[in-house]
Amino acid sequence: MRYINVENLTFYYDREPVLENISYHVDSGEFVTLTGENGAAKSTLIKTTLGILKPKKGKITISSKNNRGEKLRIAYLPQQVASFNAGFPSSVHEFVMSGRYPRQGWFKKMGAHDLEHVKAALDSVGMWDYRDKRIGELSGGQKQRIAIARMFASDPDLFILDEPTTGMDDVSSSDFYQLMHHAAHKHGKAVLMVTHDPEEVKDFADRNIHLLKDKNGKFACFDLHTDRDRVLQEEQEELEEKANV
Ligand SMILES: Nc1ncnc2c1ncn2[C@@H]1O[C@H](COP(=O)(O)OP(=O)(O)OP(=O)(O)O)[C@@H](O)[C@H]1O
Ligand SMILES: [Mg+2]
Repeated sequence: MRYINVENLTFYYDREPVLENISYHVDSGEFVTLTGENGAAKSTLIKTTLGILKPKKGKITISSKNNRGEKLRIAYLPQQVASFNAGFPSSVHEFVMSGRYPRQGWFKKMGAHDLEHVKAALDSVGMWDYRDKRIGELSGGQKQRIAIARMFASDPDLFILDEPTTGMDDVSSSDFYQLMHHAAHKHGKAVLMVTHDPEEVKDFADRNIHLLKDKNGKFACFDLHTDRDRVLQEEQEELEEKANV
């Protein structure tokens, strides 16, 4: 089932075009990565898709229902979420529990089912043993992991993740990719994840979307290709061209 459908999206910051004529989609049951060099407008594409930024042109459709006919739940993990306030007063457990509140309402009591979800979420990122710590006492990578746990606790249908493993070690990162692969393939979730290292996720992801600089355009426009091999070949040719200059 199609969860995200973007057609001919063009986005400008002031008068500067950053995304030009972008079309892509993400379906339930697939783990899709989004790559491109620094400044290729990956974060901008995600924010425009979510409606946080307004496109100049194009059509963005996000399904209102999940594949079971219920209201679609979306989780968005912004880039560098780990930089959130180090003085945050709550404990790790409270913070991850707050991921359940949108469903529960702030003042409803947590049921056993909610608490199980919170434990499973903390276990999945190896942070259950840290549940009574204050957030300010955690390292950057640990903060990133509890932000991920909070997102799991909310049990979304569509995950939109902007470089979610920043600051995490290789083992934690690949455990996370494995979890996202499992969520897509076994539970019909959809995952759109920005990554700067497509090599690291190639065994887990189903498809890659790559943002490329438009070579002919006057402005720094970017083009979208979904055919990874063609993109890699173009990049290779570009490098060879540069080497010959
Ligand atoms: N608020 C803003 N106002 C004006 N220009 C911006 C703004 N945010 C980003 N840009 C510019 O838009 C372009 C795309 O930025 P964006 O953050 O989307 O790239 P990115 O691919 O996510 O980069 P990175 O890999 O560094 O995270 C960059 O040239 C950036 O300087
Ligand atoms: Mg970014």
